[in-house]
Parts: sequence; C-alpha cells; structure tokens
Amino acid sequence: MDGQINDNDLSKVVAADRAHVWHHLVQHKPFETGEPKIIIEGKGMRLWDQNGKEYLDGVSGGVWTVNLGYGRVSIADKVRDQLVKMNFFSGAGGSIPAALFAEKLLSKMPGLSRVYYNSSGSEANEKAFKMVRQIAHKKYGGKKHKILYRDRDYHGTTIACLSAGGQDERGAQYGPFTPGFVRVPHCLEYRAFEQEGADLENYGVWAANEIEKVILREGPDTVGALCLEPVTAGGGVIPPPEGYWPRIAEICEQYDILLHIDEVVCGVGRTGTWFGYQQYGIKPDMVTMAKGLASGYAAISCLVTTEAVFEMFKDDAVDPLNYFRDISTFGGCTAGPAAGLENIRIIEDENLLENTNLMGARMMANLAVLMEKHEVIGDVRGKGLFIGAELVSDREKCTPMDESLVAAVVADCNAQGVIIGMTNRSVPGYNNTLCFSPALIATAQDIDDITNAVDKALTKVFG
Ligand SMILES: Cc1ncc(COP(=O)(O)O)c(C=O)c1O
Repeated sequence: MDGQINDNDLSKVVAADRAHVWHHLVQHKPFETGEPKIIIEGKGMRLWDQNGKEYLDGVSGGVWTVNLGYGRVSIADKVRDQLVKMNFFSGAGGSIPAALFAEKLLSKMPGLSRVYYNSSGSEANEKAFKMVRQIAHKKYGGKKHKILYRDRDYHGTTIACLSAGGQDERGAQYGPFTPGFVRVPHCLEYRAFEQEGADLENYGVWAANEIEKVILREGPDTVGALCLEPVTAGGGVIPPPEGYWPRIAEICEQYDILLHIDEVVCGVGRTGTWFGYQQYGIKPDMVTMAKGLASGYAAISCLVTTEAVFEMFKDDAVDPLNYFRDISTFGGCTAGPAAGLENIRIIEDENLLENTNLMGARMMANLAVLMEKHEVIGDVRGKGLFIGAELVSDREKCTPMDESLVAAVVADCNAQGVIIGMTNRSVPGYNNTLCFSPALIATAQDIDDITNAVDKALTKVFG
C-alpha cells in the first residue's frame, strides 16, 4: 500500500467518529454494530480506508467533486501560500485570488461577466433565486417572481433549494416549502413513454413545449426564471434529448424568462467542455457552480451572471435598497479562488478536457458491451465522464430494478475495491441508476477496472 497509515490510534478515530460524527445522507443504525468507512488518504484516483483497504474511486469523492484526483500538491501549495499571506476578508472587499480567478473563469464563459462568491452549491443557487425575486420586485412590482424547476433535478439541500427540488425523496418530510417554485416535467427520453401524450418521434421539442404549457398556465408575467441542470445528475444522469435546448432558448426569449443553469456537477470539465451548457449552445443569464470548481481542495461556489443581470442591481444608486443586499461570509475566503485558479491551470496544462472526452467514450463503449451481456442494463447515457446505467428488471417494459438490488451491485463493487454510485433517496421508485463520474485524470486502465468490477458485480447479483 502506498498510503502511509502510520497513526496507531485509528481505532480511537473510529470510536470518536462512531460516538460523535453525524454523517451526511446516512442511516446510522448499522454503525451501532459496524464501522463507518473513514477515508485516511488519497492519491490520484486511489483511496485508502482505516483498515488499509485500497479503492479505485469511480465517483470523484462520492459526489462528483474531486475532478483532478487526490493529493494534488500544487493546489495545496497555492492554498497554503495564499492563506499565510491573506486568508479572509469580507466579500464586500476584494482579494487578489478572487479578482484573478473571476477573470480566468470568465475567459471560459463567453457572454458572462460577473462572479459572485459563496461556499456551497446550494448557497449559489439560493443567491440566484434571491436575484430573481429582487428583479421581480424592482422591475415588475413583485409579480414576475416564480421560479420554474424540473422534475428529477436537484439544486441543493436548503429549504428554498428543496422547494426547487424535483426529487421527492430528498424533500419528503422537510416541508412546508417556500412558495413561488413551480415544477415542470423531466426530459428523460428513455422514460418518455411514461409521460402522457409524449411525442416519441420529436421528444426533445415536446418536452420543451411542456415547459411552455406550464408558463402559459401560470401566466408568463408571473414567471421570472427557469432553473435547469444541463445534464441532470442525482435524478438519474439525464442528458437532454435532441432539439430540447434550442426550443428552451426560444421559450425563455419569448416570455422574458431568465435562464439559470445549475452547473454544480457539470461545471469545470465534467462533461468534456468547461461547462455542460456549452455542449448545447445555451446562452444562460445565470450559472451556478461548486463541486469541481476547486475539486474539493477548498469550499467554493460561484454564481456567474451576464452584465445585463448585474446592471439591474446598480441602475439607481440613490435608492438604498437597490443593490444585491446579500453576503456569504465564507465567500470571502481566499482559499477557494486560489484553489480554483490552480484547478483550471491543471486542466489546461494536462489536457484534461480532451482526456475526459476520450475516457468518457471508452466508458460508454465498455458499458455498451456490458449492456449486451447483462439484460438488467436498460439504458446507458451520459456526457464526458458523467455516465449513468439504469438497471431494470424487465428490459421490454423498462421496469425499474428494485433499489436494494441496485445497492447490492454498488456494495459488491465496493467489496472489490471499486467505488461507484447510484441514485440515492432521489425520485420515488426510480433509485435504480448506477452512477459513474471518475476523475478527469482517469486512464484507460482505470476505466476498464471500473467497468470490469461492474461486470463481475452484475454477474454475482443477477447471475
Ligand atoms: C446539481 C446540483 N446542484 C446543487 C447541489 C448542491 O450543492 P451543495 O451540496 O454544495 O450545496 C448539488 C449537490 O449534489 C447538485 O448535484
């Protein structure tokens, strides 16, 4: 093992964790008898746990975040140097890395020109929602305040983000929710047949037109923004169908609706372009991003807007309420933009967008072979190194596989030392998609190791 587990007190660490840490998204009853997994060290795409077991990480830190892999000394050095020089001042002021990172980031986002710093994806989305609400008050007497969100999309964990959440198992028991958020239908072509009246020949345009129907039902003068993931992540890894985005663009233009793209997962390379929206020729008004922005080396999120959106918040300097009266304390941390700058440099210097496209194509091809072999794989879909494989119990009828069996596949891969993911407490009855998001540095061998583990696991669980 390369990872140096030389701390003899790991049993104390495990005991302290079991006694005191409340883990995310986990039922803790099993920890009364078993141990939580504690990750001790990481290098590249490999991880080691408290027992010295080695894993190949197929999901970039569990939640599609560590896009550049573990143990990046140059990012740590940049962050350290920056922290020693100047760690924090309120975002009301500026900092060297914040200015330079904004400039660098925007060089990858033609048409957008302002960066608002925060510390999590949920927070960035909240800020976008607040901007939409404030614009409604400033320009439309408060009327054009509704925010449309899509079935199966996720925008974060706060109450307002859950109000914009299309995954009912995430929201269950946390209501009542914030008013003014309205759901539109999903665009998962594989399950189009389940949607009443769906035009299967021309599905992308049909799915976009379903959004227009909601706008007309609600009243276009009440709808301020449409918030969408470019490729839905936790809702089942859903790339848009052909024809979807051009029609969405027309609809937003026609009804004067701001387009807010949630790039928290897709942002900064994951799909093989800097941003997922760039795959589809979209011109957003607001873009939010977090996870891959600094690959988990620092907590940073950004809300990026057009100059037109920004201008709306400074048009009347006499009115004391006429600016974005919002703060994120940790949006003033300099570690985030320092890490983000180095993150982009590495992607450029190591040609990682190109690698993402190559390795993504390899993974899709490997999974297509597995699909021929294993009847339970109903659909394989994705973009770049962001891929899902939906498991079904009846391929003809596309019947979703029982969630516990999907979990058994994930557990078997884990036992083999390969970490993969699945849709988790997401859409009721549809937690049946295996998720893959290896780091953008993945080699052909890494990709083959991941899909070979899946092959073995599927054989073991389903025969
Ligand atoms: C698409 C999307 N948006 C927003 C979020 C929320 O980000 P965070 O957990 O950093 O608040 C997530 C988290 O998984 C996400 O997948």
